[in-house]
Amino acid sequence: METKFISKTDTGIELYRLENGNGMIAEIITYGARIHKLLVPDRTGKLIDVVAGFDDPEGYRNDRGTYFNATIGRVGNRIKNGKFVLNGKEYVLYKNDGNNHLHGGKEGFDKKLWTAEIGEGTSLKLSYFSKDGEEGYPANMRVSVTYSLTEGNALNIAYQAECDEDTLCSLTNHAYFNLSGDFKTVLDHDIFIDADTLTAVDGELIPKGEILNVKGTPFDFTVPKQLGKDIKADEPMLINARGGYDFNYVLNGGEPAASAYSHSSGIKMTVVTDRPCLQFYTGNFLDGFVGKTSYPYQSAFCMETQGYPNACNVADFPSAVLKAGEKYETSTSYVFETV
Ligand code: BGC
Repeated sequence: METKFISKTDTGIELYRLENGNGMIAEIITYGARIHKLLVPDRTGKLIDVVAGFDDPEGYRNDRGTYFNATIGRVGNRIKNGKFVLNGKEYVLYKNDGNNHLHGGKEGFDKKLWTAEIGEGTSLKLSYFSKDGEEGYPANMRVSVTYSLTEGNALNIAYQAECDEDTLCSLTNHAYFNLSGDFKTVLDHDIFIDADTLTAVDGELIPKGEILNVKGTPFDFTVPKQLGKDIKADEPMLINARGGYDFNYVLNGGEPAASAYSHSSGIKMTVVTDRPCLQFYTGNFLDGFVGKTSYPYQSAFCMETQGYPNACNVADFPSAVLKAGEKYETSTSYVFETV
């Protein structure tokens, strides 16, 4: 059980290694508070890196829109037209996704250098101070993300934030998983999501308020299902999302929230969270992007736990407002076992 400083690049990116003494290793970098590697034993005991990424820490500076395993903030997912009204004032955000704001803007938390501090047990705390007006958001905000490994092969991610004026906050991690470790396809994985509904999206993949019942539809993962089974269904929302899933599931609140399983490695990942929603994204925008290997279309999936996307523009969605002086505290665990 230990956390070790490994290296620092010329531009200041630090790399740390967390080892839980039970075969699991996580490598974390300070650029974007990202997971660089996540090594998990397969059914033969061999360590498999189950996250996508680049060969070395500097590589992440060349991330062109994948957000590989990054901490996302201030607000995950899209904000329609890059604006919102808070306390009677309109705020205009940076538009980095057509006419919309995505994953924190031009230089979101995924592109910041965080300050690392080795913590208790096998943990690493990363902190960042986001200034009033950054990317168009109001308020100064202190934010931290603590990664820890448990003996039971779980990677816990705990988020904390505080601000000095009301602002928006909805943090997540954008890990790209392939539990076989070969990053060729994830269509052979079995997927479970404990959600009876999802937030329907418009042509720009933005929830507009309508809640869709998924039971019996191609969007249904309430019973574990092979990912490839319905992904090519003749269904406008799937086709519009470049032939795959890229939707916000509203979690039923049970435990676990979701799981994924690779028959070839025997690795099962279970997601436990206190967040209300989960963005299930099947790498539909991956296009042979080269990192540790080449990442083709649908070679990895993300299970991004989050608040309701675009909540600031949909009156019926639970709010993403973080009030001045209030504490934002959430956590998500990715638990690994072999089956
Ligand atoms: C979004 C996708 C987006 C991807 C990478 C995901 O969270 O849902 O639409 O393409 O992030 O930017």
